[in-house]
Amino acid sequence: MTDTPKRIVSGRAFDEDARLDASVRPKRMADFIGQARVKENILIAIEAARSRGDSLDHVLLYGPPGLGKTSLAQIIANELGVTIKTSSGPLLERKGDLTAILTSIEVREVFFLDEIHRLLPAIEEILYPAMEDYRIDLVIGQGPGARIHPFQLNRFTLVGATTRAGLITAPLRSRFGIVHRLEYYRPEDLVEILRRSAQILSIALDAGGAEEVARRSRGTPRVANRLLRRVRDFAEVRAQGRVTAEVAREALDRLGVDEHGLDEVDRNLMLTIIQKFSGGPVGLNTIAASLSEEEDAIEEIYEPYLMQMGLLDRTQRGRMATPLAYKHFGLEPPRTQHALF
Ligand SMILES: Nc1ncnc2c1ncn2[C@@H]1O[C@H](COP(=O)(O)OP(=O)(O)OP(=O)(O)O)[C@@H](O)[C@H]1O
Ligand SMILES: [Mg+2]
Repeated sequence: MTDTPKRIVSGRAFDEDARLDASVRPKRMADFIGQARVKENILIAIEAARSRGDSLDHVLLYGPPGLGKTSLAQIIANELGVTIKTSSGPLLERKGDLTAILTSIEVREVFFLDEIHRLLPAIEEILYPAMEDYRIDLVIGQGPGARIHPFQLNRFTLVGATTRAGLITAPLRSRFGIVHRLEYYRPEDLVEILRRSAQILSIALDAGGAEEVARRSRGTPRVANRLLRRVRDFAEVRAQGRVTAEVAREALDRLGVDEHGLDEVDRNLMLTIIQKFSGGPVGLNTIAASLSEEEDAIEEIYEPYLMQMGLLDRTQRGRMATPLAYKHFGLEPPRTQHALF
């Protein structure tokens, strides 16, 4: 899957984010800002598992990219006081890739499996008994003489992450005891995240600057941290390194990120629906073709935020621009559309 190259408001990670992620990624639950309900539920489950001396129930985390799934997996391991093994759906190409990891897992360890919706079916099946009974069935030998040899694993916690909960099969999903959806962050949470990052990175960010960056970060910590870095560059050249509201506004305007965090691609998407397809309904494939974008990227990254903003509706018959979208772009909604709302 690809995203529009270097789209600054994409929640997906770029190579250059990796270094920054490592320095500002929260390590303990106390540093993980926002998502109060998720945090509380996980902490209670961790506490209970610890007092029983048992492994934590398997955890499934889902939600748009950049909201903190990987961070939470590491925090869970830290709070449990155990180490973490990490892999990802597309990396597991052969059964042996997964069995090698599972058989080496230590007691109560966390196994973080990213992009879990992309597991091959034959590999996913190995997880079922592993999650349920901490057992895998090794096949020894070949052909008619092959024997199934059950192998007992250490008790462990699988933390699965996905941006596409809808693509997870029912048998896999049912084996997770703890399932949480991460939501877009509130502006005040993003302000706090930005303050924390600014402190770690020694950036002079004032309250107004933090609010301005937060407002344009699409409810996504990874985007907030990325915008902060770009605004810092601008501030160093133009404002002796001080990130004020005015500096942030100017820097982000120049980068094409508007006051709601929409960029050129979002604007094109909305204006395509409004102007080329009279507001919709229009099918995803038609929009993708008309924008030369991948359907996947549109569905996973652009649409969730546009829907959250109330600019876009997904209906049975296709995508539609809402009256608010017309207002946002300073356009008159067509009469026929009014009747639909
Ligand atoms: N709740 C939070 N508090 C503080 N910082 C956060 C929080 N959530 C995420 N971040 C920051 O955002 C960055 C991206 O988060 P993370 O990598 O955990 O997201 P993700 O959901 O795993 O994304 P992806 O879907 O791309 O794998 C982290 O490096 C961290 O700095
Ligand atoms: Mg991740």
